[in-house]
Amino acid sequence: MGSGLEGIVVADTTLSRVDGAAGKLVIAGHHLEELAPQGFEQAAQVLLGLAGLGEARVRVWQKLQSVLPLLPGRTPLEGLRMGLAALPGPIGEAEVVAAFPVILAGVRHGAALPRPDANLGQVEDFLRLYGQSSPDRVRGLSTYLATVSEHGMNASTFTARVVASTGAELLDAVLAALGALSGPLHGGAPGPVLDLLDELEGESDLEAALQARLDAGQRLMGFGHRVYRTRDPRASVLKKAVAQMADSPRLRWAEKVEKAALTVLARHKPERRLETNVEFYTAVLLEAVGFECTMFTPLFATGRVLGWTAHYHEQRRGGRLIRPDSRYVGPEPE
Ligand code: ACO
Repeated sequence: MGSGLEGIVVADTTLSRVDGAAGKLVIAGHHLEELAPQGFEQAAQVLLGLAGLGEARVRVWQKLQSVLPLLPGRTPLEGLRMGLAALPGPIGEAEVVAAFPVILAGVRHGAALPRPDANLGQVEDFLRLYGQSSPDRVRGLSTYLATVSEHGMNASTFTARVVASTGAELLDAVLAALGALSGPLHGGAPGPVLDLLDELEGESDLEAALQARLDAGQRLMGFGHRVYRTRDPRASVLKKAVAQMADSPRLRWAEKVEKAALTVLARHKPERRLETNVEFYTAVLLEAVGFECTMFTPLFATGRVLGWTAHYHEQRRGGRLIRPDSRYVGPEPE
């Protein structure tokens, strides 16, 4: 198996520190636990210095008028790719960040999508446009988006930096990063987490049911992480955010499943600590906000675009072309 570049430092960054041993995350000088409850706008401010995205949402909506009718019927991820790729350039950072909620609401409403309200915060306006706003939901989703806004040299951020290092446009770096995020080992896990919670309903022996999955060679989605050797701090922040939204039997069920999963994983891999990662409570939170699981990866991207964009600028400011080597192990010519 390849090294997956584990432990290789590819950049100095001021954007975040992921302390995998202690289970701590610092985002641009702020502890995750302090930043996350302040929400998406505050994360946009500390990572990019962006104050207000309302006008940018309106501009994106205007630019996408001919594309909006084509979006319904696509999955949200397909719609996002299509809408971003269709944005006529040059596209600045505010418009890139503002495009995500407009396009995702556009996948639902097509040409009928109302004009964004420049006076609202990004999350409130998104849930209004999408059609499921309430103060609890705005708070929960805003905390989620800030929580996932930035996280070290993960696969999609690395992808964004590779593209930035060639001198490409921001939008191209963001599209490439979105592709990297879509895989189940990165941002695509929360859908399968909900499947797991559903499939286990009615099981009397949770540990046995989970062990059977491991014995069949399956991975338990929402557990394990490349960097954290303890609980992912984002899991705790998101669990608290769900608890603050509403009293939820689903949350209590998730806690039971988590406990059983941690027990069987400790037996399964005693030499490698496999703990709860961000995706486990992401699934529970986004379901509580009312989203279908096809929206989960696009929503992750709606928060993470802040980190991608900040890394893009950092790479453009000081970085060199990223161009590693490979070792040839194929046949020699005759
Ligand atoms: N369930 C069961 N076994 C696991 C799990 C899991 N969730 N995670 C890792 N393992 C096992 C692997 O099978 C492997 O065993 P082996 O050495 O016998 O082959 C060992 O632990 C190490 O696994 P790697 O894949 O080498 O570890 P890596 O650091 O690359 O994995 C990853 C991190 C991809 C997240 C992994 O833990 C996983 O697949 N988790 C499930 C998917 C998931 O939750 N993804 C979301 C991650 S969070 C995020 O990206 C935002």
